[in-house]
Amino acid sequence: MHQPEDHPAGIEIALWPYSKIEGDWNRWMQSLSPDERERAATYRFERDRTSFIAGRYLLRRLLSAHTGTSPSKLLLSPDNRGKLRLEGRERPHFSLANTDGLVAVAVASGCDHLGIDCERADTEIEAAAVDSYCSADERRCLAELPARERTRAAIALWTLKESHLKALGVGLRENPRNVAFSWKDGIPVMVDGGDRDRRWHHRLVESGSQHVVALAACSQSGLPGISTHLFQDDSMPSE
Ligand SMILES: CC(C)(COP(=O)(O)OP(=O)(O)OC[C@H]1O[C@@H](n2cnc3c(N)ncnc32)[C@H](O)[C@@H]1OP(=O)(O)O)[C@@H](O)C(=O)NCCC(=O)NCCS
Repeated sequence: MHQPEDHPAGIEIALWPYSKIEGDWNRWMQSLSPDERERAATYRFERDRTSFIAGRYLLRRLLSAHTGTSPSKLLLSPDNRGKLRLEGRERPHFSLANTDGLVAVAVASGCDHLGIDCERADTEIEAAAVDSYCSADERRCLAELPARERTRAAIALWTLKESHLKALGVGLRENPRNVAFSWKDGIPVMVDGGDRDRRWHHRLVESGSQHVVALAACSQSGLPGISTHLFQDDSMPSE
């Protein structure tokens, strides 16, 4: 078992383009709680079921490495807004996102809030939808981009907003249009009408070309180092 001391105070991001082979996800299920297995069984589409199982499996593997508790023994429960908490522990903070073909998990002890989101880079978003979640300034910036860059930029904005709302724990109860971004030296900066809140840090995470991944972290003492890696499932069938 990994020891928690192995992990520096920074933010760990694991990206997993998991396999969709039934034999694999049956094995991952062994690390899930009875509640999670029950929820997995309720999914109508295999794609959604696999994605859920992969997400919770990866989350448990990472939290296990950070806490020293084995994956299946971790007690995870959602708060009344759906954000998962580790029972009996304030830290590490963590966030989970899944989209078709990828799960992403961020874990950190040195942040006050943490959120991650991912979407496929080729997701089609209708113009009306973009209008509904973008501020007037964001819409103007998107309109100035060449068409081939506009889709990815619109998805980047969506993932940045969603990662922020997940970090806050409110999700889409809050209108994403109220969380607006501009770019400074190539880095997304949240604009809040008034002064910039320097505790908040937002990044687009390099993930290869197929997905857009965004991270939101709130930390009083600057942005902790971020280490991103592709997760390799090296567990044995009985683990
Ligand atoms: C949080 C939310 C934005 C996630 O959106 P999504 O695109 O469906 O899913 P993602 O892959 O990005 O993230 C899923 C994870 O978000 C996490 N999550 C759920 N609610 C959350 C919240 N309020 N805050 C932070 N994280 C949350 C869960 O860990 C979930 O993982 P799980 O499916 O294994 O339980 C969305 O579910 C939401 O807004 N929920 C709260 C309000 C609500 O239920 N609205 C109904 C739809 S408008």
